[in-house]
Amino acid sequence: MKQTKRIRLLCGQLAPCETFADVGCDHGYCTQYMLEENLCRRAVVSDISAGSLSKAEKLLSAYIAEGRVAPVCCPGLEKIPRDTEQVLIAGMGGEEILSILREGFLPPALVLQPMRHAPKVRAYLLENGYSIVRDFTFFDGKFYDVLRAEFPAYRGAAVRSYGERELTFGFDNIRSPSPDFLQMLEEEMRKCRARLAAAQKPVPAVEEKLRRITEVYHDLARSV
Ligand SMILES: C[S@@+](CC[C@H](N)C(=O)[O-])C[C@H]1O[C@@H](n2cnc3c(N)ncnc32)[C@H](O)[C@@H]1O
Repeated sequence: MKQTKRIRLLCGQLAPCETFADVGCDHGYCTQYMLEENLCRRAVVSDISAGSLSKAEKLLSAYIAEGRVAPVCCPGLEKIPRDTEQVLIAGMGGEEILSILREGFLPPALVLQPMRHAPKVRAYLLENGYSIVRDFTFFDGKFYDVLRAEFPAYRGAAVRSYGERELTFGFDNIRSPSPDFLQMLEEEMRKCRARLAAAQKPVPAVEEKLRRITEVYHDLARSV
């Protein structure tokens, strides 16, 4: 099985369930992991692109023949059974993920890896009654955010209380910062300084961003 660090970390957030859906599956590696590790009984792989879906169909052909995997070509959750327990949506923009959820349905468990706008995704999940049980940044050639959210009634997940910093940067990043996250903050500070130097005049929005990131960085670097 293909095991990039990103795929390995995504798979690590998936829990055992009866029914699993991989929305925007492309190659289908995470569904392969769920099946090979016996973490789900049945899975649906979906993609808006028939070409992308065909990669998952090829990878998972034995499971499709067995009737354990159903491939569907559709936007978002359109053809995903509403009683699906756990849904993965990875590698898309945060805005795209939010429109998929708004136009579809809210499953008991979600694993999301938004390429942008993670704070908006966090806010939406919390507003809709989810508990975000994992929420961290990692580096695999670039920086990625991954979130696991569950309805508290699903498996009794403890509700974690989000303040402004947790919403902006991610709960686990703030409460137990990893070297990858601190490296991301360092890189963001460097980018802000480079933009300010290039502008050669005050840029209040960038100055404010630099001030906030620097403050968080110093608080966290002191605590590790
Ligand atoms: C960058 S790939 C990510 C593939 C895989 N989920 C991963 O994380 O490795 C994004 C995939 O999402 C699909 N996609 C984009 N928008 C979609 C939507 N609204 N509904 C379903 N699939 C979508 C694309 O066709 C593409 O195959």
